[in-house]
Amino acid sequence: MTVPELIQAATSARLRARAPFSRFQVGAAVEAASGVIFTGCNIENATYGLTLCAERVAVFKAVSEGESRFTRIAIVAETGALTPPCGACRQILWEFCGDVEVILANLAGSTETIRLSALLPRPFDARFLED
Ligand code: THU
Repeated sequence: MTVPELIQAATSARLRARAPFSRFQVGAAVEAASGVIFTGCNIENATYGLTLCAERVAVFKAVSEGESRFTRIAIVAETGALTPPCGACRQILWEFCGDVEVILANLAGSTETIRLSALLPRPFDARFLED
């Protein structure tokens, strides 16, 4: 799948966001090494704190389907300054996807690609548990 196609998948997923509280809709599409794409949207709830970001929905869908290797993820929101993944999602992306390419995009067609290691320098992960 091309990068524009991955962005399009995230853009379509964004339309399924359940964001009645923030009204901030986000879509994500993660590409597994197998080539299969898994999409996600943010899902909020009345207790607020149990909200799931689009990125985590996409990654957990993929992991629950047996995927363990990933190449890149596209994240789409309707902001002028491109929306990056939150801190919690950076951690989850690092642990489950490794140093993937993170493609940020908005509805106006702006895009930027950045590696996860640049967004999450000096990460904590399972290696420290074995040290
Ligand atoms: N959100 C995401 O889904 N991904 C991000 O990268 C940033 C924030 C969601 C969480 C919440 O539903 C809404 O956007 C506002 O924070």
